[in-house]
Amino acid sequence: MYTRLSILVVVFLAIGTVDSKHKHHQKGNEPDFVKNLTNSQRSSFFGIVKNPGISFQQKDDKLVKWAEDNNLSEQYAEFSKNMTIHKEEVSKNISGVIDRLAAAKVEVDKVNADLSLTKIQRDEKIDELKKTYPQEIPTLFYIGGLFEHPRRNETKGSEGKGGRRKHQ
Ligand SMILES: *[C@@H]1O[C@H](CO)[C@@H](O)[C@H](O)[C@H]1NC(C)=O
Ligand SMILES: *[C@@H]1O[C@H](CO)[C@@H](O)[C@H](O)[C@H]1NC(C)=O
Ligand SMILES: *[C@@H]1O[C@H](CO)[C@@H](O)[C@H](O)[C@H]1NC(C)=O
Ligand SMILES: *[C@@H]1O[C@H](CO)[C@@H](O)[C@H](O)[C@H]1NC(C)=O
Ligand SMILES: *[C@@H]1O[C@H](CO)[C@@H](O)[C@H](O)[C@H]1NC(C)=O
Repeated sequence: MYTRLSILVVVFLAIGTVDSKHKHHQKGNEPDFVKNLTNSQRSSFFGIVKNPGISFQQKDDKLVKWAEDNNLSEQYAEFSKNMTIHKEEVSKNISGVIDRLAAAKVEVDKVNADLSLTKIQRDEKIDELKKTYPQEIPTLFYIGGLFEHPRRNETKGSEGKGGRRKHQ
């Protein structure tokens, strides 16, 4: 049950991203599964995927049925699996970033505490740290921004690329 739910979340979010890219005419970035759909298949597929008023379980059932009706069960199952794997990888990556955040902050604090540095040198040191902590440093600055610019504090729902969830 848990697995099925997470598959749905994955498909929904991933397709949302894919679809907003499509709107911006970047069809080349779509997964092959979506790229291969006919216009009518695409429209019925996203009609289900983007429906915000049905449960994720219902969405999964409808998509499985849709795939059967379109003779795409095998491809859809593989696509679904790919999305699950992708989502798990993202989740693992997020956990990794969280695990390294404290260590990255120690390093950033050290640089900021070194008054012998010029602004240029400090920026260079931070850039250097980004090689070790490519996601962690920007994340720390993002967190800092929540306090320095409290208005950014309302960025709930902007986690999808293109922030499409804002428009719903
Ligand atoms: C997409 O279509 C191409 C060409 O027909 C096919 O080779 C490929 O396997 C399809 N990919 C998916 C994911 O359905
Ligand atoms: C469904 O796919 C199978 C195997 O690819 C094919 O033989 C069959 O003709 C397809 N049926 C329809 C209705 O497209
Ligand atoms: C699933 O991922 C594999 C490996 O990345 C890729 O070759 C395949 O086309 C994908 N299949 C679908 C249906 O998206
Ligand atoms: C997860 O992190 C690895 C290592 O940094 C990276 O290669 C991979 O692309 C990331 N996966 C995703 C889905 O972002
Ligand atoms: C975020 O906003 C809420 C109210 O909108 C405020 O009470 C809180 O102090 C803000 N948090 C930060 C870190 O600025």
